[in-house]
Amino acid sequence: MKIYHTTQGLRKKLDQLPATSSIGFVPTMGALHQGHVSLVKTALKENSQVVVSIFVNPTQFDNATDLQKYPRTIEEDASLLEKTSSHIIVFAPTPAEIYGNNIVSKAYNFDGLENEMEGKHREGHFDGVGTVLNHLFRIVTPAKAYFGEKDFQQLQIVRSLVKIEKLPVQIVGCPILREKSGLAMSSRNARLTNVQRREAAFIFKTLTTIKENFNHKSIPALTRMAEEAFRKNPHLRLEYFEIAHANTLKTAKRKQKNAPYRAFVAAFSGEVRLIDNMALT
Ligand code: PAF
Repeated sequence: MKIYHTTQGLRKKLDQLPATSSIGFVPTMGALHQGHVSLVKTALKENSQVVVSIFVNPTQFDNATDLQKYPRTIEEDASLLEKTSSHIIVFAPTPAEIYGNNIVSKAYNFDGLENEMEGKHREGHFDGVGTVLNHLFRIVTPAKAYFGEKDFQQLQIVRSLVKIEKLPVQIVGCPILREKSGLAMSSRNARLTNVQRREAAFIFKTLTTIKENFNHKSIPALTRMAEEAFRKNPHLRLEYFEIAHANTLKTAKRKQKNAPYRAFVAAFSGEVRLIDNMALT
């Protein structure tokens, strides 16, 4: 599989495609798993050409060690993509290729979406995500781009980004892929021991219980119920549990008729931070 490392090389390839081609784009940071493969498969169904980027974006990390420790498995990633289809174009640029010699992010205002949940715990994270995607969208020029609902806040922010930057790309949200136990697939799961991996399924189980109780309990009662369940679990340390409006991502205090709600969790298993969420309505 040919991997393009420069914008010039990638553009040359893309510019040779027939004018009628539609490019589907799956941006990733590598360490690919079946969740990514499912995004790629959806993109392959809906487009004549699919580009997957593999780029560990320095500006979205608020912690240098985390950035350094992020798994880089380009060969395994390329072979997983090769097995999926021989028609995928891989773009794996260097930081200099994307940022030149100024590795900084732009300051965005995503209408407050950036200040909720993940935004409170990972300073500057969404500015970094917005900045790199703005660069990548302009390089790849996709008709559609695919994002997993596991990072639901990111998905809503990307929808806001393309409006702010007036980018002609359709953002497609794809359902969370789960392991048999219910654990949401994530590159970070590879860092869990077998026991941690088994115990982490508790996150999905708690979300499921909250969903089952959604119609007959108040939002504060449901929140207390989830927090209490985590308190009793010695394997996971809860960072936050929130029930929020799916569009504004603002914490919901009481239910409003026909409004879309979702429950969101961030919890640590040892040093590994896991996030998950579930639609409640
Ligand atoms: O979700 C991710 O892997 C990253 O945040 C993304 C969208 C590839 C931007 O670096």
